[in-house]
Amino acid sequence: MRFSKKHILDMESLSVDEITLILDTADRMKEISERPIKKVPTLRGKTVVLFFYEPSTRTRISFDIAAKRLSADSLSISASSSSMVKGETLIDTARNIEAMNPDVIVIRHSSAGAPHMLAGMVKPSIINAGDGMHAHPTQSLLDLMTVRENKGEISGLRIAVIGDISHSRVARSNSIGFTKMGAHVVLAGPRTMIPKGIEALGVSVTYDVEEAIRDADVIMMLRIQKERQQDFLFPSEREYSSVYGLTKAKLKKAKDNVLIMHPGPINRGVEIAYDVADGPYSIILDQVTNGVAVRMALLYLVTGGARSADAD
Ligand code: CP
Repeated sequence: MRFSKKHILDMESLSVDEITLILDTADRMKEISERPIKKVPTLRGKTVVLFFYEPSTRTRISFDIAAKRLSADSLSISASSSSMVKGETLIDTARNIEAMNPDVIVIRHSSAGAPHMLAGMVKPSIINAGDGMHAHPTQSLLDLMTVRENKGEISGLRIAVIGDISHSRVARSNSIGFTKMGAHVVLAGPRTMIPKGIEALGVSVTYDVEEAIRDADVIMMLRIQKERQQDFLFPSEREYSSVYGLTKAKLKKAKDNVLIMHPGPINRGVEIAYDVADGPYSIILDQVTNGVAVRMALLYLVTGGARSADAD
């Protein structure tokens, strides 16, 4: 199958076949990262601009590593080090970057829809690295890859996503991504953190975290996104942790082969206990490893890489 998408903006616009192709390509890309010399010439001569308007550790570094492993030239700019601090708009900044003829712009922005807007206005491929509370498609793809790698398949699994659903672009993208691939997604958390009508995405909702844990094949914990909250949505962090945090005691009720995931950054002792984050069921760092492979696959596919990566 030929990949015809120029931009990666959200999970809605990817078909099951396109997602499968991305995951299959990422599996092959992962092997490159395991070689003693972790570099192939596949994207030599291509330029990737990483434009991060919000902080990031995992996404930014993994895109940078992914570009370098494929021999693309990558450079990072942040809002605080760009002329946006002097009043230049996002679109003027993007048009100036476009004038330097990059092939891909990877953008993270606090406003939902910013990557979609750029995709309609500039020539390079746009990859959404997280826009406000809307979408984080590359996180969802690396989560799908990690579950498929550990469970063999995604279809038929029960995926519990627990925590601050309202403010989470990861929860939204994963609700769409996992449902599309045949899993059943259950969203759980305090009533104040689950948006009304979210079931329209094809997911179930429960306010009983222990029920969500008991039936799940995969438990994905989410951070409380204080930076996106105007009001206090729970009485105290300690109370939140005791009711909604994932502890060893709560995990005793889970399936024997449950997987624990978290997109990061994790707040140890709040939504996840130290010994659960580091425990035998945790695949949190596998997610990070697979982030590089998925982003290599996406850079390769959106630039229409003609040669197969394992031929190099
Ligand atoms: N998961 C994720 O997006 O992490 P960063 O904010 O560190 O990129």
